[in-house]
Amino acid sequence: MLKFLKSLVGGPAKKRQLHILPQGLTVDIASGQTLLEAALANGIAFPHDCTVGTCASCKSRLKQGRVREATPFGYTLSKLELDAGFILACQAFPRDDLTVVEIEPPGADVPPPESFTGTITETQPLTHDILKVTVRMDRRVNYVAGQYASVRAPGLPRSRHYSFADAPQREGRTDLNFFIRKVPGGAFTDALFSGGLNGQPLTIDAPHGNFHLRGGNSPMLCVVGGSGLAPLLSVLEQARKTRIRRPCTLLFGARTQADLYMLDALQSLASGWLDRFNFVPVLSHEPPDSAWQGARGMVTEFIASAAGEIDWASAEAYMCGPPPMIDAAIAKLVESGLPLDAIHYDKFTDGRDEAPAA
Ligand SMILES: Cc1cc2nc3c(=O)[nH]c(=O)nc-3n(C[C@H](O)[C@H](O)[C@H](O)COP(=O)(O)OP(=O)(O)OC[C@H]3O[C@@H](n4cnc5c(N)ncnc54)[C@H](O)[C@@H]3O)c2cc1C
Ligand code: FES
Repeated sequence: MLKFLKSLVGGPAKKRQLHILPQGLTVDIASGQTLLEAALANGIAFPHDCTVGTCASCKSRLKQGRVREATPFGYTLSKLELDAGFILACQAFPRDDLTVVEIEPPGADVPPPESFTGTITETQPLTHDILKVTVRMDRRVNYVAGQYASVRAPGLPRSRHYSFADAPQREGRTDLNFFIRKVPGGAFTDALFSGGLNGQPLTIDAPHGNFHLRGGNSPMLCVVGGSGLAPLLSVLEQARKTRIRRPCTLLFGARTQADLYMLDALQSLASGWLDRFNFVPVLSHEPPDSAWQGARGMVTEFIASAAGEIDWASAEAYMCGPPPMIDAAIAKLVESGLPLDAIHYDKFTDGRDEAPAA
């Protein structure tokens, strides 16, 4: 009888566990917790940022067990990543007693995020729709090249992410520069471009993100689109300052010549680079009768040719910009023979990319 009653109510909730590689840590997953929540609740430094399925910082490879998606992983991960077994830990609920995931542990030198207040002190147009925005902070900010800040303006409920455009300084920076592109109909950028944020106190939470230069001597292929140049400039400038010696190809996708910017900074970066530096601007909408002699088309079409004699099996890719560009680039890179684990990116998602519930 007791057995029968137990079978009706289902008995005590099953203990579910999460095992995290390569650290080899095991934690219990409480009922209703995502994999990320379980890891964080147990004090594990599991990479994460947005916690709502849009930044891919919590991307991990599912090695054992099945999971239920709170929001579809496919909104943020490419098909290739999904096929290779990647999931978003912040959107994954366990379906089996044991779930095993593999993560890339966050770098040891990443400073923990803190809350700051900042005020815009200068805006300078870089193109017709990209501003260089300088923000004076209430105190010094430390970050790793490639990371970003979460910025909240008065009256807007949600933070927007903006990548640091400069290499970090050992003692931290009080003046931060960002390259911000105007998004038509975007709440934050509309206010910014109309001058409505000047003098306003901005709440800034930083640093965030797991986009950074990995160690080693592999050739680097960098692909940027629009304001995606900001984090790559920070990464490359830091690499130049620390005298890193690696061949580098930088593909810069823009619509027309008028959309290329920071060319002087790129020129000086290239001349100070200790190995081969190949800069390839690619224009998608340059008028056919213009004097432009350079590459024309979608930046992702030039991945194979611009990288030249690159040994794909040992190379690394670093990419920032619009999500469709990143997805197309991942497909091209994998087709060329680059392993998914060697592809690092930040997708510049916005309000349109908010993931719907599964
Ligand atoms: C890691 C990361 C780093 C980033 N770094 C940079 C950077 O360095 N520079 C940069 O320029 N950008 C960067 N971005 C993008 C940036 O954070 C903002 O998303 C962008 O500036 C748009 O903000 P917004 O408030 O103007 O637009 P939003 O208000 O987010 O709106 C964007 C668009 O979506 C539409 N929209 C909004 N909500 C909805 C909805 N619910 N349904 C349908 N449509 C909707 C709007 O009409 C508009 O067209 C980054 C993003 C990420 C994730
Ligand atoms: S923390 Fe999971 S997608 Fe951002």
